[in-house]
Amino acid sequence: DRKSFVVALDGPAASGKGTLGRLIADHYGFAYLDTGSLYRGVARRLLDAGADPGDEAAAARAAKEFSLDQIDGRDIRTREVGAAASKVAAMPSVRAALLDFQRRFAANPPGGARGAVLDGRDIGTVVCPEADVKFFVVASPEVRARRRWLELRAARPSLTEREVFEDLAERDARDAARADAPMTRAEDAELLDTTHLTIEAAFAAARRVIDGVFQRCEG
Ligand code: CDP
Ligand code: CDP
Repeated sequence: DRKSFVVALDGPAASGKGTLGRLIADHYGFAYLDTGSLYRGVARRLLDAGADPGDEAAAARAAKEFSLDQIDGRDIRTREVGAAASKVAAMPSVRAALLDFQRRFAANPPGGARGAVLDGRDIGTVVCPEADVKFFVVASPEVRARRRWLELRAARPSLTEREVFEDLAERDARDAARADAPMTRAEDAELLDTTHLTIEAAFAAARRVIDGVFQRCEG
């Protein structure tokens, strides 16, 4: 049997990775993993326990004990969880504890799927450097802030677009500057700028790239 076909999606917050990842996974019958949910899940646990997200020993323990079912039904999309997630994500012990799960998911996708789509910050560089297709998904900071604000404001009507802009800027800067697995475009990653693209147009562009790789694999 064939090795799993892996699609890596990296890039800054709210660039459209998750939306694209789910569409790609559905279309090709691949399994999908939002790796940000792992870091958010660890952060959520620490915040719930009243622990300081800067406490590396506590964060490493939470990461070692983490499993996806812990976040079922939990709200991990809040700005507090996002901020804490990017703090724990800078800790090498936390990243190391979550690495195996991500690699196993890619190599052996659940449900017997023929491939896997993973989205995050370091998929194409660290988690799956041998991925079959890599995208680095970007969009202007203003457009990303607007998109995320539109998602969050229903739950928090007092939240301003400016606050979301600042949250994302702070998180992106931390994610790009950390020593361990920083957010960077892999040399062989296709740059996908979604600033002026609808979801459908971004998905079509991604499909063209993936179909091209499929043809090369099979021809
Ligand atoms: O996963 P990531 O944080 O990169 O972004 P996302 O959750 O996929 O997208 C953030 C928001 O932007 C979602 O509400 C998407 O519907 C929206 N979006 C968009 O309006 N246009 C795109 N081309 C991509 C995403
Ligand atoms: O959805 P959004 O793009 O806002 O963030 P996310 O993908 O849910 O990731 C939350 C945080 O987890 C990021 O700001 C990163 O600090 C961290 N993360 C990471 O370090 N490596 C990954 N592969 C995925 C997420």
